[in-house]
Amino acid sequence: MPRLTGRLVVASHNSGKVREIAALLAPLGVEAVSAASLGLPEPEETETTFAGNAALKAKAAADASGLPALADDSGLEVFALGGDPGVYSARWAGPTKDFAVAMERVQDELAARQAKDFSARFVCALALAEPGGAVDVFEGEARGRIVFPARGLQGFGYDPIFEPEGHTRTFGEMSHEEKLPLTHRARAFEKLLAALS
Ligand code: IMP
Repeated sequence: MPRLTGRLVVASHNSGKVREIAALLAPLGVEAVSAASLGLPEPEETETTFAGNAALKAKAAADASGLPALADDSGLEVFALGGDPGVYSARWAGPTKDFAVAMERVQDELAARQAKDFSARFVCALALAEPGGAVDVFEGEARGRIVFPARGLQGFGYDPIFEPEGHTRTFGEMSHEEKLPLTHRARAFEKLLAALS
Protein backbone atom coordinates (compact mmCIF):
# COMPACT_ATOMS: atom_id res chain seq x y z
CA MET A 1 0.00 0.00 0.00
CA PRO A 2 1.43 3.45 -0.91
CA ARG A 3 2.29 5.88 1.89
CA LEU A 4 0.24 9.06 1.88
CA THR A 5 2.88 11.75 1.44
CA GLY A 6 3.55 14.50 -1.05
CA ARG A 7 1.26 14.89 -4.01
CA LEU A 8 -1.70 12.69 -4.62
CA VAL A 9 -4.20 12.82 -7.46
CA VAL A 10 -7.84 12.96 -6.48
CA ALA A 11 -9.33 11.06 -9.40
CA SER A 12 -12.64 12.87 -9.64
CA HIS A 13 -14.08 15.57 -11.85
CA ASN A 14 -16.78 16.35 -9.29
CA SER A 15 -15.74 19.55 -7.51
CA GLY A 16 -17.95 18.77 -4.47
CA LYS A 17 -16.19 15.45 -3.94
CA VAL A 18 -12.71 16.87 -4.59
CA ARG A 19 -13.35 19.52 -1.93
CA GLU A 20 -14.42 16.93 0.65
CA ILE A 21 -11.53 14.58 -0.11
CA ALA A 22 -8.98 17.43 -0.06
CA ALA A 23 -10.32 18.44 3.38
CA LEU A 24 -9.91 14.85 4.64
CA LEU A 25 -6.34 14.73 3.29
CA ALA A 26 -5.25 18.18 4.53
CA PRO A 27 -4.47 17.14 8.15
CA LEU A 28 -2.10 14.48 6.77
CA GLY A 29 0.00 17.08 4.99
CA VAL A 30 -0.91 15.57 1.63
CA GLU A 31 -1.31 17.90 -1.32
CA ALA A 32 -4.41 16.92 -3.25
CA VAL A 33 -4.28 17.63 -6.99
CA SER A 34 -7.48 17.12 -8.94
CA ALA A 35 -7.59 14.95 -12.05
CA ALA A 36 -9.27 17.82 -13.89
CA SER A 37 -6.41 20.23 -13.12
CA LEU A 38 -3.95 17.71 -14.59
CA GLY A 39 -6.13 17.37 -17.69
CA LEU A 40 -6.64 13.64 -17.09
CA PRO A 41 -9.51 12.04 -18.99
CA GLU A 42 -12.52 10.81 -17.04
CA PRO A 43 -12.78 7.04 -17.63
CA GLU A 44 -16.18 5.52 -18.28
CA GLU A 45 -17.61 3.81 -15.20
CA THR A 46 -18.20 0.37 -16.66
CA GLU A 47 -18.35 -1.66 -13.43
CA THR A 48 -21.54 -2.58 -11.57
CA THR A 49 -20.26 -1.93 -8.03
CA PHE A 50 -18.96 1.15 -6.21
CA ALA A 51 -15.73 -0.71 -5.40
CA GLY A 52 -15.20 -1.76 -9.03
CA ASN A 53 -15.71 1.78 -10.36
CA ALA A 54 -13.52 3.38 -7.66
CA ALA A 55 -10.68 0.94 -8.47
CA LEU A 56 -11.03 1.59 -12.20
CA LYS A 57 -10.84 5.39 -11.72
CA ALA A 58 -7.92 5.29 -9.25
CA LYS A 59 -5.89 2.98 -11.45
CA ALA A 60 -6.50 5.05 -14.60
CA ALA A 61 -5.42 8.28 -12.83
CA ALA A 62 -2.35 6.70 -11.19
CA ASP A 63 -1.17 5.16 -14.45
CA ALA A 64 -1.77 8.38 -16.45
CA SER A 65 -0.16 10.75 -13.91
CA GLY A 66 2.63 8.64 -12.42
CA LEU A 67 1.39 9.70 -8.95
CA PRO A 68 -0.57 7.74 -6.35
CA ALA A 69 -4.26 8.33 -6.91
CA LEU A 70 -7.32 8.25 -4.72
CA ALA A 71 -10.72 7.75 -6.32
CA ASP A 72 -14.17 7.83 -4.85
CA ASP A 73 -17.19 6.11 -6.26
CA SER A 74 -20.27 6.88 -4.34
CA GLY A 75 -24.00 7.13 -4.59
CA LEU A 76 -27.37 6.98 -2.99
CA GLU A 77 -29.19 3.69 -2.33
CA VAL A 78 -32.90 3.96 -1.60
CA PHE A 79 -34.11 0.71 -0.07
CA ALA A 80 -37.69 0.92 -1.42
CA LEU A 81 -36.20 1.31 -4.92
CA GLY A 82 -34.15 -1.88 -4.58
CA GLY A 83 -30.98 0.15 -4.03
CA ASP A 84 -31.49 2.55 -6.95
CA PRO A 85 -30.08 4.91 -8.12
CA GLY A 86 -26.94 3.21 -6.65
CA VAL A 87 -24.04 3.18 -9.09
CA TYR A 88 -26.27 5.15 -11.48
CA SER A 89 -26.62 8.12 -9.06
CA ALA A 90 -24.72 10.52 -11.30
CA ARG A 91 -26.44 9.22 -14.45
CA TRP A 92 -29.94 9.90 -13.07
CA ALA A 93 -29.03 13.59 -13.29
CA GLY A 94 -28.77 13.29 -17.08
CA PRO A 95 -26.17 14.78 -19.43
CA THR A 96 -26.52 18.27 -17.93
CA LYS A 97 -25.90 16.86 -14.40
CA ASP A 98 -29.04 18.49 -13.11
CA PHE A 99 -29.72 17.01 -9.68
CA ALA A 100 -33.14 18.63 -9.50
CA VAL A 101 -34.05 16.12 -12.23
CA ALA A 102 -32.44 13.23 -10.31
CA MET A 103 -34.19 14.14 -7.04
CA GLU A 104 -37.52 14.42 -8.84
CA ARG A 105 -37.00 10.97 -10.29
CA VAL A 106 -36.41 9.54 -6.79
CA GLN A 107 -39.66 11.18 -5.70
CA ASP A 108 -41.59 9.91 -8.76
CA GLU A 109 -40.30 6.36 -8.41
CA LEU A 110 -41.17 6.26 -4.70
CA ALA A 111 -44.66 7.57 -5.51
CA ALA A 112 -45.11 5.03 -8.31
CA ARG A 113 -44.36 2.24 -5.82
CA GLN A 114 -46.52 3.88 -3.13
CA ALA A 115 -43.50 3.48 -0.88
CA LYS A 116 -43.89 3.87 2.87
CA ASP A 117 -40.25 3.19 3.68
CA PHE A 118 -38.05 6.18 2.90
CA SER A 119 -34.86 4.78 4.40
CA ALA A 120 -31.71 5.18 2.34
CA ARG A 121 -27.98 5.28 2.60
CA PHE A 122 -25.08 6.95 0.88
CA VAL A 123 -22.25 4.55 0.07
CA CYS A 124 -18.67 5.45 -0.71
CA ALA A 125 -15.89 3.24 -1.99
CA LEU A 126 -12.44 4.84 -1.83
CA ALA A 127 -9.70 3.27 -3.91
CA LEU A 128 -6.02 4.03 -3.51
CA ALA A 129 -3.77 3.07 -6.41
CA GLU A 130 -0.06 3.25 -7.06
CA PRO A 131 1.14 3.82 -10.65
CA GLY A 132 1.37 0.37 -12.23
CA GLY A 133 0.71 -1.21 -8.84
CA ALA A 134 -1.92 -2.60 -6.53
CA VAL A 135 -5.26 -1.01 -5.72
CA ASP A 136 -6.85 -1.10 -2.23
CA VAL A 137 -10.53 -0.32 -1.69
CA PHE A 138 -12.32 0.83 1.51
CA GLU A 139 -16.08 1.30 1.93
CA GLY A 140 -18.17 3.51 4.21
CA GLU A 141 -21.87 4.30 4.53
CA ALA A 142 -24.10 7.02 5.96
CA ARG A 143 -27.65 5.92 6.83
CA GLY A 144 -30.65 8.17 6.80
CA ARG A 145 -33.95 8.83 5.05
CA ILE A 146 -35.27 10.57 1.98
CA VAL A 147 -37.41 13.67 2.55
CA PHE A 148 -39.56 15.80 0.22
CA PRO A 149 -39.60 18.63 -0.58
CA ALA A 150 -35.85 19.05 -0.95
CA ARG A 151 -34.36 21.33 1.70
CA GLY A 152 -31.13 23.34 1.69
CA LEU A 153 -28.81 24.76 -0.92
CA GLN A 154 -25.45 23.60 0.49
CA GLY A 155 -23.53 20.47 -0.46
CA PHE A 156 -24.10 18.79 -3.81
CA GLY A 157 -25.95 15.98 -5.57
CA TYR A 158 -28.75 14.45 -3.51
CA ASP A 159 -27.85 16.32 -0.30
CA PRO A 160 -31.13 18.34 -0.16
CA ILE A 161 -33.31 15.18 0.07
CA PHE A 162 -31.12 13.20 2.51
CA GLU A 163 -31.59 13.52 6.26
CA PRO A 164 -28.84 11.60 8.08
CA GLU A 165 -29.86 9.36 11.01
CA GLY A 166 -30.09 11.24 14.32
CA HIS A 167 -30.56 14.63 12.60
CA THR A 168 -33.57 16.71 11.61
CA ARG A 169 -31.84 18.70 8.88
CA THR A 170 -30.76 17.46 5.49
CA PHE A 171 -27.15 17.37 4.30
CA GLY A 172 -28.19 20.29 2.06
CA GLU A 173 -28.97 22.37 5.14
CA MET A 174 -25.62 21.64 6.80
CA SER A 175 -22.38 23.52 6.39
CA HIS A 176 -19.45 21.68 4.81
CA GLU A 177 -17.83 21.33 8.28
CA GLU A 178 -20.95 19.90 9.83
CA LYS A 179 -21.70 17.46 7.02
CA LEU A 180 -18.20 16.08 6.48
CA PRO A 181 -17.78 13.93 9.63
CA LEU A 182 -21.23 12.39 9.09
CA THR A 183 -20.51 11.23 5.58
CA HIS A 184 -19.98 7.87 3.94
CA ARG A 185 -16.78 9.42 2.54
CA ALA A 186 -15.37 10.22 6.01
CA ARG A 187 -16.20 6.68 7.19
CA ALA A 188 -14.45 5.10 4.22
CA PHE A 189 -11.53 7.44 4.85
CA GLU A 190 -11.25 6.29 8.49
CA LYS A 191 -10.85 2.72 7.25
CA LEU A 192 -8.20 3.78 4.75
CA LEU A 193 -6.25 5.58 7.49
CA ALA A 194 -6.52 2.58 9.82
CA ALA A 195 -5.08 0.35 7.08
CA LEU A 196 -2.22 2.77 6.42
CA SER A 197 -1.19 3.10 10.07
P1 IMP B 1 -19.86 9.03 -9.16
O1 IMP B 1 -19.26 8.42 -7.92
O2 IMP B 1 -18.97 10.02 -9.79
O3 IMP B 1 -20.42 8.00 -10.06
O4 IMP B 1 -21.08 9.92 -8.69
C1 IMP B 1 -21.87 9.59 -7.61
C2 IMP B 1 -23.03 10.55 -7.48
O5 IMP B 1 -23.65 10.22 -6.22
C3 IMP B 1 -22.64 12.00 -7.37
O6 IMP B 1 -22.68 12.66 -8.59
C4 IMP B 1 -23.73 12.53 -6.44
O7 IMP B 1 -24.86 12.83 -7.15
C5 IMP B 1 -24.07 11.36 -5.57
N1 IMP B 1 -23.38 11.54 -4.30
C6 IMP B 1 -22.25 10.93 -3.86
N2 IMP B 1 -21.89 11.40 -2.66
C7 IMP B 1 -22.81 12.33 -2.33
C8 IMP B 1 -22.95 13.20 -1.21
O8 IMP B 1 -22.17 13.24 -0.24
N3 IMP B 1 -24.03 14.00 -1.26
C9 IMP B 1 -24.91 14.03 -2.28
N4 IMP B 1 -24.82 13.28 -3.35
C10 IMP B 1 -23.76 12.42 -3.37
